[in-house]
Amino acid sequence: MGQRFSRISGWGRYAPAQILTNDDIAEIVDTSDEWITSRTGIRERRIAEPHETTLTMAQTASERALAVAGIPADNLDLIIVATSSPDYLLPPVSSMLQHALGASRAAAFELRAGCTGFLYGLSTAHQFLATGTYRRALVVGVELISRAVDWQDRNTCVLFGDGAGAVVLEATERPTGVLGFVLGSDGAGAEALIVPGGGSRQPLSSTVLAERGQFIHMDGQAVFKFAVRTMGRALLEAVECSGLQLDDIDLFVPHQANQRILELAARQCGIPWEKMYVNIARYGNTSAASIPIALSEAVEEGRLQEGNHIAMVSFGAGLTWGALALRWGEGPATTEEVFGRQPLHLPQRVLRSARTSVQKVRIQTTSRLSPLLLPLYAMSRRVRKEEKTGE
Ligand code: COA
Repeated sequence: MGQRFSRISGWGRYAPAQILTNDDIAEIVDTSDEWITSRTGIRERRIAEPHETTLTMAQTASERALAVAGIPADNLDLIIVATSSPDYLLPPVSSMLQHALGASRAAAFELRAGCTGFLYGLSTAHQFLATGTYRRALVVGVELISRAVDWQDRNTCVLFGDGAGAVVLEATERPTGVLGFVLGSDGAGAEALIVPGGGSRQPLSSTVLAERGQFIHMDGQAVFKFAVRTMGRALLEAVECSGLQLDDIDLFVPHQANQRILELAARQCGIPWEKMYVNIARYGNTSAASIPIALSEAVEEGRLQEGNHIAMVSFGAGLTWGALALRWGEGPATTEEVFGRQPLHLPQRVLRSARTSVQKVRIQTTSRLSPLLLPLYAMSRRVRKEEKTGE
């Protein structure tokens, strides 16, 4: 068997119809459209209606992805569902999805890695395909997070939204699709983003409910700093282990948690803003669903063409992080074409590796300086805003 690759052949998303704007939230907790927009970039989010569940959202996104791929569900060998808001602790929503889709031959499991879950899922599915174990996998990121959010806590309830995204990954002999990835975890930060109650450590009880322990608790600043520390580094590592340079990437599809985090990451890596796909204003943070939702919108908007290179990057509860680079499309016949260039001559190689080293130093330095940079950045934004509004 020759070398195997895995490519995305189908994509789909689902977002509940119900829109909750910042002004709507300002009627529930002490906040304002101005605060939420300037601190996060979020203007509105989608909220599931009572009859909707994690399963129904995942099913709709999956059926759309299967339709694009043009394969029936019973051709799937594997289903991975990344979520932190499953319908039940048991059974896993992945098996319920497998049944609902009629994917009778598929193995199915649920994967929990916070907002990084989709990239963990995509990397895992890629392994099964690259080794020749399976030929077709469905990877889903889905969150019905509005039911895990404390609607009395303005620190968290303004951030999150519901949604689902799915991709079909198919094995191919052509050199395309997933080129490389990095995954990471730092459990030292576990308590920065936590639902303390409802698990085996603190089963649901009247005390847990009284302390609102069934909801998400977050140290926003700690998560913000972690994101700034890890995103740029993970991106560069994933791109480098794919045999590419950041300049080779046509579109960056980052986890949509906070527009300020994305602006900092772009600045840190020297990525032009036009290359970042950002839709946070319309969805908020949909956790494990945010990257597949963004990817499917980017394709529909014509932002991806055969041969383009994409890099995705995420961070989230755990704390976890991940980044993955891939080549879009069916793929060329030969390996040389996959990187869109001939083998480099020595002077070019020296130049490229020098550029990578400079990028690395820049990212390492700004990561180390991030505790200093963040307050400066916040201050400069405030000053700019005050200048604009003439206050
Ligand atoms: N509306 C109005 N004021 C709010 C508010 C809200 N929704 N939420 C917090 N505040 C207040 C705080 O109480 C605080 O007031 P104080 O100065 O009187 O104490 C002030 O705003 C500043 O709070 P702070 O936490 O410093 O704001 P911030 O600039 O760090 O922004 C987050 C808060 C949550 C937007 C930001 O930290 C963040 O995005 N962190 C990352 C979170 C994340 O991505 N989580 C998911 C990971 S996958």
